[in-house]
Amino acid sequence: MRVQVLNGPNLGRLGKRQPEVYGATTHADLVDLCEATAAQLGIEVTVRQSDSEAELLGWIHDAADAGEPVVLNAGALTHTSVALRDACAELEAGLVEVHISNVHAREDFRHHSYLSAIATGVIVGCGVAGYSLALRFLAER
Ligand code: DQA
Repeated sequence: MRVQVLNGPNLGRLGKRQPEVYGATTHADLVDLCEATAAQLGIEVTVRQSDSEAELLGWIHDAADAGEPVVLNAGALTHTSVALRDACAELEAGLVEVHISNVHAREDFRHHSYLSAIATGVIVGCGVAGYSLALRFLAER
């Protein structure tokens, strides 16, 4: 099984961006963490990040066509994008929505997600460990 780990806008800035909120882990470190977790679990993983909504939509369409589950941290698009939700609704192999920070303890506009209602599961506020938890859940499912 291959899992697509997709990160949206500004997550390429991990490590530099608001470290008090998102921690010191860089996106390159996050790729290493996901690959190490996948190796332990005996699954394949592809980890990608884009600031472009169109590119994310394309990757989600590809995952839907390939029947691959997705771990998605859509960043701010979580709170704004009906298009992303519509694309994710096609993911029959599973969708885990991940947020590094506890969005519910932050500004009101972060409390609503267009994705949660169609996600298989949601992991919030566990830092980058949330990605490993999501991979474990999908591998054991
Ligand atoms: C985030 C939370 C979002 O509200 C924010 O826009 C992000 C990151 C998180 O991982 O905590 O870019 O998805």
